[in-house]
Amino acid sequence: MLLRREFLLLIDIQQRGTYMIFELNQKEPEMFSGDLLVYFIRETEGKTVPCLSKVVRRELKQAWKSGDFTGKKGQSFLFYPSATAKHSAAYRVLAVGLGKAADESDKNALREQIRLAAGTAVQQAAGLKVTSLMAVLPEKTGLEDSEVAECLTEGLILGSYRFDKYKSKKEDQEEQPTIEAFSLQVGTLNPKAAQEGMSLGKKAATAACRARDMANEPGNGWPPAKFAEFGQRLAQKHKLSCEIIEKDAMKKLGMGGILGVNQGSALPPKLVILKYEGGKKTDPTLMLVGKGLTFDSGGISLKPGLGMEDMKYDMCGGAAVICAMQAIAQEQPKGINVVALVPSTENLPASTALKPGDIITHYNGKTSEIINTDAEGRLILADALAYGIEKYTPDAVIDLATLTGAVIVGLGHHRTGLMATDDSLADQLLAAGDRAGEPLWRLPLGPEYSEQIKSQVADVKNIGGRGAGSITAAAYLQEFVGDTPWAHLDIAGTAWNFTEKTYIPKGPSGIAVRTLVDLVRHWQGKKKEV
Ligand code: BES
Ligand code: MN
Ligand code: ZN
Repeated sequence: MLLRREFLLLIDIQQRGTYMIFELNQKEPEMFSGDLLVYFIRETEGKTVPCLSKVVRRELKQAWKSGDFTGKKGQSFLFYPSATAKHSAAYRVLAVGLGKAADESDKNALREQIRLAAGTAVQQAAGLKVTSLMAVLPEKTGLEDSEVAECLTEGLILGSYRFDKYKSKKEDQEEQPTIEAFSLQVGTLNPKAAQEGMSLGKKAATAACRARDMANEPGNGWPPAKFAEFGQRLAQKHKLSCEIIEKDAMKKLGMGGILGVNQGSALPPKLVILKYEGGKKTDPTLMLVGKGLTFDSGGISLKPGLGMEDMKYDMCGGAAVICAMQAIAQEQPKGINVVALVPSTENLPASTALKPGDIITHYNGKTSEIINTDAEGRLILADALAYGIEKYTPDAVIDLATLTGAVIVGLGHHRTGLMATDDSLADQLLAAGDRAGEPLWRLPLGPEYSEQIKSQVADVKNIGGRGAGSITAAAYLQEFVGDTPWAHLDIAGTAWNFTEKTYIPKGPSGIAVRTLVDLVRHWQGKKKEV
């Protein structure tokens, strides 16, 4: 029987219909009677298998001697000890390679090793119909005990993600079970630290999986109203407030960017605002803005048909922001206020749609000549940025968007593009991304780029010509942030079809959720002067 509190927690964790248990265990690992017991083994030159378990050392002896299993990254070795070992209740045991001990000073590489190994473990488990898994926390990793538990938890949760909501169950096919119960066995680590790390990892990874769920939803399954619904449900459940700015209110406020992009869509736009107050009014406020474009056809400047279905992912920035708010609401950090804005609409062609040559007026009064209706992300973000900054006077602003194809040309699918007006904010984001295993790369801003988006007939135009497409897109946004320290993350290359990692399956990656959560945990915002 689950306690009520546990049960509620589980609902947060699981979005796939079943409920997942995640707990810390101090019992003897070999007495584990579930489906799969996992040990992590470091790659070493030594003669004996570096593992505390006698059973593992004995069973792996031959494989180790022959060099078949050496603890290399990506390696795993499965055995069934109960038949031969008296002192093992475990039915299946999986040894997973951690790889060579990285340079101890490179904590982020060590963290990533653990996530990757945990991802390998759950990938193997997926082929074995495992529903309960225990992972023994590795020792001597060079990391704090809490970090080991944090990263292992992240790898297990992120790696076992599946989205099969829309697949009908076939009677003649056996169903692939999901892992319902995970436990971490503390091994030689400090239980309190492990518990803390596990709890951090669980909140961040669960939020990233939730963002993947949103992104996996097709355009007709996740219209703008769903962002509003999700925001309101979050606010009911947690200490958060939610406000939805509807189309009529947008008209009154003069949000010509969101309204312009929405002109071709039959569905009303939404601007979802979530507010977390973890501090006094004088404590610093961080503002997050995410592009929630639920489908981007390009509008009148229609995109080519090939691969257009992927443009259902154009809401990944919005998903990252709103799901980071879920984790923040669960975590309740003190001394910080966070406000999140998600402007959301579709971008479709229609006789009512925005046309090239049209001029719109943004919330802050700036006029913009539309050269290409496919450069729509900046139009909806501009209103949200200007409005949010005026209303909430944040100390720093971060926006996230699948903004430009150009960022994929520049950085491929391996790094998120970062552009910022504030070095401290940029550095903090770079560090958070490295800790989370979601690296960023900073690109410049500057007056020469802003020059590229000057219009003959309006204050700005919405595209900047041939070169530096990602930077001119950022330069457009820069027009709407004033002097507030601001950073822009272009996640067009990393939001889906990311570099395949064991803990990032095909499809949407949930990118930037964990980076944002980590940033909030470490953020050095300035206190406001009273
Ligand atoms: N959502 C797209 C950017 C995008 C493209 C994301 C490919 C992921 C993969 C954005 O709205 C867009 O269409 N940008 C245009 C801008 C151009 C018209 C200046 C682009 O990048 O082609
Ligand atoms: Mn577009
Ligand atoms: Zn777009």
